[in-house]
Amino acid sequence: MSDHVRIYEVGPRDGLQNEAMLIPAVAKIALIDLLSDAGFTKIEATSFVSPKWVPQLADAEAVLSGIRRRPGTDYAALTPNMKGYERALAAGADEVAVFASASEGFSRNNINCSIAESLQRFELLLEAAKKDGMRVRGYVSCVIACPYDGPVAPEAVRDVAMALLDMGCYEISLGDTIGAGTPETVSAMLEAVLPSLPAKRLAGHFHDTRDNALENVTAALDLGLRVFDSAVGGLGGCPYAPGAKGNLATGPLVELLERSGFSTGIDCDALKKAEAYLQTITRASA
Ligand code: HMG
Ligand code: MG
Repeated sequence: MSDHVRIYEVGPRDGLQNEAMLIPAVAKIALIDLLSDAGFTKIEATSFVSPKWVPQLADAEAVLSGIRRRPGTDYAALTPNMKGYERALAAGADEVAVFASASEGFSRNNINCSIAESLQRFELLLEAAKKDGMRVRGYVSCVIACPYDGPVAPEAVRDVAMALLDMGCYEISLGDTIGAGTPETVSAMLEAVLPSLPAKRLAGHFHDTRDNALENVTAALDLGLRVFDSAVGGLGGCPYAPGAKGNLATGPLVELLERSGFSTGIDCDALKKAEAYLQTITRASA
């Protein structure tokens, strides 16, 4: 099994979407440029969602047009519908991500529609993306528990993940949106999903609400996953998931992986510069 782990840096999106104060586009651009210097091959730079729903990322066009593009890095953006997709395409996103939920309550609260309606929307988006040659990643949220509906059945996760894969997503990121997972529940969820979706098409996306996201990564590594999402400085949360604390922090994830014998390709000194810069911009907006 591969000893390389790809880290999908989601801080500029999953982190900054939740900051209490608006951070100027120029600071977001500087942060993304520092993350590019650290060697990430995937950086989720922003979201093309409704600015009424997530005002923190209303500057998505300015951010994507202002960043320095490192060859070898894909700059990604979340797109909830065709409007978001068209904005992302026009702004030059290298790939986009659709985001569904394994629970109805979160789907309604996060994207204002049922799971089935969201999958219909994404199907249209993926058809357009196929014509444009745009890669699409898929997220499934609330893979362990939902802030509105409580515990989520692993089979519900499997069904939504399969639907996203079948419509053409190249990879499915399984999100423990509120950080409810333990190594036991994460393993049980993955064991229900893996017979239907191969580990090489899955990513783990853990929030660190209970300070055990690294243990959850270890459980997922043991079951063959080799892609993990994390956020510089442990930024994050989700404005529509009460209780979602930070994302798994990238620095400790890199340390764990390297210590366990996996390569990541991340330049730790450059990552520290991004972490230090992040402190200055989040402190300034606190
Ligand atoms: P809606 O209100 O049902 O949308 O929201 P609508 O289609 O009825 O449109 C209402 C208005 O929004 C219209 O404008 C549209 O033009 C506009 P008006 O006529 O009122 O002036 N609009 C848009 N504007 C810009 N860009 C767009 C867009 N779409 C509509 N793309 C919608 C539905 C999906 C848009 C809304 O619910 C939304 O934007 N939700 C996003 C919420 C979000 O970003 N949540 C955080 C990301 S998910 C997450 O963090 C989890 C994850 O990290 C994984 C994990 O941890 O589990 C991925
Ligand atoms: Mg998240």
